[in-house]
Amino acid sequence: MKKTLLLFATVLLSLGACTNPSNDQKQETVVSTNDNGQAAIENIMTRTSIRQYKDQPVEEEKIDIMLKAAMAAPTAVNLQPWHFIVITDKKVMEQLAGNQPSNAPLMIAVCGDTDKTSMPDGKGKLPDFWVQDVSAAIENLLLAAHAQGLGAVWTGVYPAMERVANVANVLNCPQNIIPVAVVRIGYPDESPAPKNKFKEENISYNKFGGKKE
Ligand SMILES: Cc1cc2nc3c(=O)[nH]c(=O)nc-3n(C[C@H](O)[C@H](O)[C@H](O)COP(=O)(O)O)c2cc1C
Repeated sequence: MKKTLLLFATVLLSLGACTNPSNDQKQETVVSTNDNGQAAIENIMTRTSIRQYKDQPVEEEKIDIMLKAAMAAPTAVNLQPWHFIVITDKKVMEQLAGNQPSNAPLMIAVCGDTDKTSMPDGKGKLPDFWVQDVSAAIENLLLAAHAQGLGAVWTGVYPAMERVANVANVLNCPQNIIPVAVVRIGYPDESPAPKNKFKEENISYNKFGGKKE
């Protein structure tokens, strides 16, 4: 398991070293694993929400890797319509927690930026794909947390508009910055087993209700 996490962290580090979302430089690194991707798959399958944390800060390098992983997510027309607010101020975190108190030493508010949802060449605004873009970033962030030995939980904000207003207000967000989730992060102080959610009945083949041939 340790080896797996190390490998995944190395992959994320190399991503961080080679990507630059602001100018979209080509990423030269070829992610090479000699385990047929098992390390990455194991990281996905063993992630689970963690809500109790040790009284231990999260290192800046680990935060950087989570942010880089988040921004490696796919986005419609590659618009990258997001903004990340890293929160370590206890008072701000208390205000954000609302009716779900938390002892997390770190929160990251993952927001959509509706100023970044215009099609290139003045072809107008995209429909609300930004929500999916931001959600993909949140999942990457959760996986990068887990890969680095951290625990995290996605707490939903958008589209519960009362929560959106509260979080936006606490974080001084301008109108175009819409909080989608607040991810709570820290070193785990609990070890719940990952849930097995795989269900054959959720799958169809070729058309809805179609059976596997
Ligand atoms: C959109 C969304 C909103 C969520 N909101 C909350 C929340 O407000 N509080 C919380 O404790 N967990 C929240 N979760 C975490 C889910 O409860 C959790 O992912 C689910 O129970 C499955 O468990 P797992 O993450 O361990 O696989 C949210 C997850 C998603 C995707």
